[in-house]
Amino acid sequence: MLQELLEKRRSYRSLAPVSLSDEMVETLSRAASLMPSCFNNQPWRFVFVRSAERLEELKKTYSKGNEWAYRASFVVAVVTRLADDCQLQGKDYAFFDTGMAVGSMLLAATELGLVLHPIAGFDTALAKQILHLPLDMVLITLLIGGRKSDTLSPELSPHQRETELSRPARKAFEEFVFIEKWGEAFHPIS
Ligand SMILES: Cc1cc2nc3c(=O)[nH]c(=O)nc-3n(C[C@H](O)[C@H](O)[C@H](O)COP(=O)(O)O)c2cc1C
Repeated sequence: MLQELLEKRRSYRSLAPVSLSDEMVETLSRAASLMPSCFNNQPWRFVFVRSAERLEELKKTYSKGNEWAYRASFVVAVVTRLADDCQLQGKDYAFFDTGMAVGSMLLAATELGLVLHPIAGFDTALAKQILHLPLDMVLITLLIGGRKSDTLSPELSPHQRETELSRPARKAFEEFVFIEKWGEAFHPIS
């Protein structure tokens, strides 16, 4: 079941409208909040945006190539701050823990039949202003939300059209999985 959800989750860019209910906000937030965090610090913060006015404002922040995001029905701003989580031996855990929470939220969204597509291509300062975020909070990503459209959106580039139809390739296990020690590549049986 989990494996199915993992395989099903995709960062689709052809989005159809969907209405994000309070119940959905609750399901997504609960999924995120159940993930582990250092000392249970729960450093993640989310701003759900679903009003037409603010979605319109956010459009001004999207980078070139992210025009497909204009069709978002909702956006989830992912926010944290290093000081809100463990800072141990030169390691800051806020981004790690927030990332885990977002991973869980993406899977919950997939189960609800929603698309949640993270983007880094946006004007951070402007988005923070639009969302009234305090200056010391870090806006890591915007999750562009909608429902997968049956037809390809016209604003997609040829490359984006391609990735819409098949998942971008993943590295071979040999490149990132080691056994016993660094450099000892794992060779999968399949
Ligand atoms: C932190 C982050 C930033 C991303 N930024 C963008 C972006 O600005 N625009 C975009 O179209 N996709 C963006 N993506 C989506 C990735 O391109 C996508 O996840 C990757 O190609 C793998 O495809 P998949 O999620 O469908 O498996 C981003 C994903 C992540 C996690």
